[in-house]
Amino acid sequence: MTAHKTALDEDELISALDGVALLGIRSKTSVTKKVLSAAPSLLAVGAYSIGTNQIALQKASQLGVAVFNAPFSNTRSVVELAVAEIIALTRRMTERDRSLHSGVWRKSATGSHEVRGRTLGIVGYGAIGSQLSVLAESLGMSVVFFDLEEKLALGNAQRLESMEELLEAADVISVHVDGRASNAGLIGQAEFATMRPGAVFINLSRGHVVDLAALRETIESGHLAGAAVDVFPSEPKAVGDPFASELRGLPNVILTPHVGGSTEEAQVSIGRYVSGKLRDFYANGSTSMSVNLPNLTLDPAVGAVGRLAHIHHNIPGVLAWINQAMAAHSVNIAGQVLGTRGEVGYVLTDFGSPLGDQVLESLAARDETVRLRLLS
Ligand SMILES: NC(=O)c1ccc[n+]([C@@H]2O[C@H](COP(=O)([O-])OP(=O)(O)OC[C@H]3O[C@@H](n4cnc5c(N)ncnc54)[C@H](O)[C@@H]3O)[C@@H](O)[C@H]2O)c1
Repeated sequence: MTAHKTALDEDELISALDGVALLGIRSKTSVTKKVLSAAPSLLAVGAYSIGTNQIALQKASQLGVAVFNAPFSNTRSVVELAVAEIIALTRRMTERDRSLHSGVWRKSATGSHEVRGRTLGIVGYGAIGSQLSVLAESLGMSVVFFDLEEKLALGNAQRLESMEELLEAADVISVHVDGRASNAGLIGQAEFATMRPGAVFINLSRGHVVDLAALRETIESGHLAGAAVDVFPSEPKAVGDPFASELRGLPNVILTPHVGGSTEEAQVSIGRYVSGKLRDFYANGSTSMSVNLPNLTLDPAVGAVGRLAHIHHNIPGVLAWINQAMAAHSVNIAGQVLGTRGEVGYVLTDFGSPLGDQVLESLAARDETVRLRLLS
């Protein structure tokens, strides 16, 4: 194993990948089409991150290179930050804190509330939104949510038919939508105006989702009681870089530098999860939770003496000719599973008698074959 402390550029990465089967990267390393084309030994890429924008996924699929990421490893961390902020904002904790740090004692109950009995509105009921729903209910909050998709309402949470209905109903609005382009400006002046007077607003999802100038106006007007924002339309690149935002200096507004998912626990979880995916793919061909190949696992068949992993172009008849090639050489198939995804097909086959070189050669010779791997 070779480890590099910093991201490599394209040419450095190409030469580092000579003879490498498994590549692990963080978000700053770009695995471009050129890199993938120049790395014939590469079997899989593990992105030790949530996103996979840094990888040319379509090219990886065409070349039969499996890509894995860690979609849920920091979910809990984001949810816990949201819970902390819901309580801190509802309690006006930041103002009390700033006041004492500036040397002024302001003991008052005005504007401070318990979260128990208040209504949390969650926009985007995916991995994070639905986890938040569970934790918020355990604090005694009523939860309403809106999602574009049909989602199972957990606990006593209630699905609402529109975001507008949610904005009118909630004391706390927390946004957890994904980064699709159509979510740009999802929450702007009109949406802030629809929120209840005294509501608090949280965005830990994506920077482009919220109009920050409109948020500033809404806070300054006193319509909203507070806000917490972790993600910004444009974020500084490096630690220590200056930070500019319309939201700086506002009362009862918590600003954090995109750290929703940044905990030591999440880092450990990302490391374990992605490494496990790479190990399983290498050892038994499992593509469970791969972001680009058909997701397959095959329990070892009784009596199997080996396994063949075959990635191919998704066209009719491939499974038939794989099986014919085996039958022609009297190889018994003990277990098999096929999956397809777009242009790619993937078959795992457990065989019950040794697979001779002739079978492998005949499969490798077909144009439809992208990758062939013998696993034992
Ligand atoms: N702050 C951080 O450090 C941090 C860390 C992890 C994730 N995130 C971000 O949090 C967000 C949620 O992550 P997740 O893992 O829960 O994603 P997810 O894909 O599991 O859930 C997103 C949900 O939002 C819904 N949705 C999308 N657009 C919507 C809209 N306009 N109205 C209502 N619902 C909509 C989707 O149907 C989906 O159910 C993502 O944008 C992710 O990038 C931020």
